[in-house]
Amino acid sequence: MTTSLKAALKTHFGFENFRSKLQEDVVKAVVRGDRDVFVCMPTGAGKSLCYQLPAVLAEGITLVISPLIALIQDQVDHLKSLNILACSINSKLAAGERRLILADLGSSSPKLKLLYITPEMVASPSFQPCLTDLCTRGLLSYLAVDEAHCVSQWGHDFRPDYLKLGGLRTRLPGVPCLALTATAPENVQRDIAQSLKLSSPLSFVTPVFRSNLHYDVIFREMLPNPYVHLLAFVKKSLALDAGSNAQGCGIVYCRTRDDCDTVAYQLTKLGVLAKAYHAGLKAGDRTEVQHEWMQGKVLVIVATISFGMGVDKANVRFVAHWNLAKSLAGYYQESGRAGRDGLPSSCRTYYSRKDKEQINFLIRQEIGRRQEKRGSANESDKAAITDFEAMVSFCMQEA
Ligand SMILES: Nc1ncnc2c1ncn2[C@@H]1O[C@H](COP(=O)(O)OP(=O)(O)OP(=O)(O)O)[C@@H](O)[C@H]1O
Ligand SMILES: [Mg+2]
Repeated sequence: MTTSLKAALKTHFGFENFRSKLQEDVVKAVVRGDRDVFVCMPTGAGKSLCYQLPAVLAEGITLVISPLIALIQDQVDHLKSLNILACSINSKLAAGERRLILADLGSSSPKLKLLYITPEMVASPSFQPCLTDLCTRGLLSYLAVDEAHCVSQWGHDFRPDYLKLGGLRTRLPGVPCLALTATAPENVQRDIAQSLKLSSPLSFVTPVFRSNLHYDVIFREMLPNPYVHLLAFVKKSLALDAGSNAQGCGIVYCRTRDDCDTVAYQLTKLGVLAKAYHAGLKAGDRTEVQHEWMQGKVLVIVATISFGMGVDKANVRFVAHWNLAKSLAGYYQESGRAGRDGLPSSCRTYYSRKDKEQINFLIRQEIGRRQEKRGSANESDKAAITDFEAMVSFCMQEA
């Protein structure tokens, strides 16, 4: 099996080798198709390939669930560029295109290999008959649930629509499920297995920190000039003083829009062009900033955490958190955008006690609001606090 899989990897994706032994093992397990599979690998480890390669090799269609249309679009574009037949049915699709796709799915031997949909779509009554029909005809090879932590209320990215996936599984008997995520503490893993009704899944889990990422924590309040300190970090990470040509790029995460603007302004003033990215900008300006950063015209993007999901850039040399992340799981995910090419990269948090108190306050305020609406407390309330405490204790250990 190994030789034929490697050949297929080369033919369809152009890769000489699997990224890791783990990636290869997952692909083999999925191709065997007799068990559900759970995969927890760090961001950038190449999880998509774990279902894309089996999808290409299978007779039928692989249904992929992913939380955001933007994420889906990236993947579909990428697959199309590889001449792999993939598409997505979503709320933004033009009626004509939708009809074409549905016609292919209804035909006796559909050409499509991967069909991406959002969880909202899964629940849409207009789409149900099509899925059940495919399943009855034995044309569904796999169900892949990407970003599977979205199913858990313990996680940092809970999406209520993901809970509907349990029902979907019941309606698609005999279709093996592959659940993938970058961040899954044990309670989240349990939720995923339960909600997606994974039956004694094969589990593939790697530790979250990758070996090429160097982590540190700096106490911001002790610094005479924090911006100068950040500048030095940026310059060192990008090797700007080394005199050679451009050395990749970086992300600075801030909690508020104001902070984004200030940090970007200060870095630029000190000599490294940096641009802010946040929800306060016009959509067009935001896209423009992201584009300039993707192309390497702007080396540093200073963003709220709304930036980054689905951004797949290999040469991110650093991720700095100007403010504390709200949970350790979130921090893993955000900082994990560094060093996807496997080269040494730096992840730094600028800790401040004031930040900690503020975020603590905001989390409790949010919990209070939710409890008021609900009329009672529940487990996920405690989770938000525990997750933030995990982040703080990480900083205390590192500093
Ligand atoms: N076998 C391989 N050899 C070389 N590159 C690979 C291989 N498999 C995947 N990649 C590349 O690794 C990069 C990251 O892959 P992918 O987006 O699947 O990561 P991920 O694990 O899903 O991360 P995230 O958690 O952020 O979604 C992509 O650019 C992909 O093309
Ligand atoms: Mg992914």
